[in-house]
Amino acid sequence: MTPLQRFAERRHRLAAAMAAAGGGLAVIPTAPERTRNADNDFPFRFDSSFHYLTGFTEPQAWLLLDSSGRSLLACRPRDPEREIWDGFRLGPQAAVATLGVDAACSLAELETCIEQRLAGQPALWLPCGVHDGLAAQAESWMGRLRSLARHGVEAPQAQRDLSPLLAELRLRKDADELNTLRRACAISAGAHVRAMRFCAERLSSGVASLREYELEAELLHEFRRHGAHGPAYSSIVAAGPNACVLHHVAGDAELRPGQLCLIDAGCELDGYASDITRTFPASGRFSAPQRELYELVLAAQAAAVAATRPGARQRDAHAAAVRVLAQGMLDTGLLPADRHGGLDDVIDSAAYRQFFMHGTGHWLGRDVHDVGEYLALDEAPVDQPDDRGGRIVKKPSRVLQPGMVVTLEPGLYVRPAPGVPEHFWHLGIRIEDDAVVTASGCEVISRGVPVQADDIEALMR
Ligand code: GLY
Ligand code: MN
Ligand code: MN
Repeated sequence: MTPLQRFAERRHRLAAAMAAAGGGLAVIPTAPERTRNADNDFPFRFDSSFHYLTGFTEPQAWLLLDSSGRSLLACRPRDPEREIWDGFRLGPQAAVATLGVDAACSLAELETCIEQRLAGQPALWLPCGVHDGLAAQAESWMGRLRSLARHGVEAPQAQRDLSPLLAELRLRKDADELNTLRRACAISAGAHVRAMRFCAERLSSGVASLREYELEAELLHEFRRHGAHGPAYSSIVAAGPNACVLHHVAGDAELRPGQLCLIDAGCELDGYASDITRTFPASGRFSAPQRELYELVLAAQAAAVAATRPGARQRDAHAAAVRVLAQGMLDTGLLPADRHGGLDDVIDSAAYRQFFMHGTGHWLGRDVHDVGEYLALDEAPVDQPDDRGGRIVKKPSRVLQPGMVVTLEPGLYVRPAPGVPEHFWHLGIRIEDDAVVTASGCEVISRGVPVQADDIEALMR
């Protein structure tokens, strides 16, 4: 399938989903350009769903798609003067042949095109909850159509949310998307390897420390030299105790021999994110307490990987990881058994959340926390444990299918506290890999960087 055919096929699948839900016209903008400071903008990043449907990367563009499958792209007109400053613009004249849409218009004609195509449609479909100001714009298009009622113009009866339809489409990746994700993971894995090696070389060369931003620079270098757009999210490079701050971003903290370093970083390639975490000893050798907790997190991840297969539920991986971690907390004395009871007590009371307070994974795709419903919306609610030691009645989590992509990222984060063995204080460990659900299990696509403690030590020697 050519890229143009792939984008056309996605538009047709979306149109079919709209048709099955009553039909109408979808209006989908790309992302806005955003000011960073004064007259500097943040680098432009297209909207993930817009790009999924068009492959078009310019700002100020809109896709109109009706439920019969007819598409129209509105984009910036050619402008030789502006193109000297900002670069090439495709322009509406070339858009049909280049992008394979059925029609194109200039931005100046957008409102007219929307109103013409919206008249007589049963519904206006918008990606809700994504674009600031879109709802107000929609009100103005609808108001104008209603004001033309006496001329026989029919405004849509309803506004519908396109986001769940887009999320369902994007949740199961096709073969091309999976290949892009595999390539993104390979680049990111290489970047993690590079950072580990850099750390080992630096600390063994007599220089006693290095700073988080130096490792971040190594990651960036590796992303960009392989053609990745950049990081898919702010890289976390956490020296020692900083690893216990879940959203720590690479700063200027020093990484010292004897400490662990946690790196959570992944590149974005052709619009797809990767998301990998490794935790390694700065000096290349895990201490005994570090290794003890590392092996525990690794065992929890292995349980999560085993629980990730078609027919299992998305939440099963978390439950499996929690069981291993909770048992490990009892075995290591992180949670003294005389105060916390047995494994089921630790899970039922959510006591494990003192050291493992986040989920075990999320959907991965164009967005690092990708779109996709986590609950099985077509099933009845059931009574189930919540994460805080209580019970909750809610829909079960959804059943995994081939083509879904998840992260598997258990961790342990030990802050100093009374009763917590001191040799574990300030250790923060997370191991995160990306996995594609296959016909029989899952394919872990991010293992281009070692994950076994011995293999990490070997790499850093
Ligand atoms: N790096 C973001 C996450 O792991 O969810
Ligand atoms: Mn993640
Ligand atoms: Mn991550």
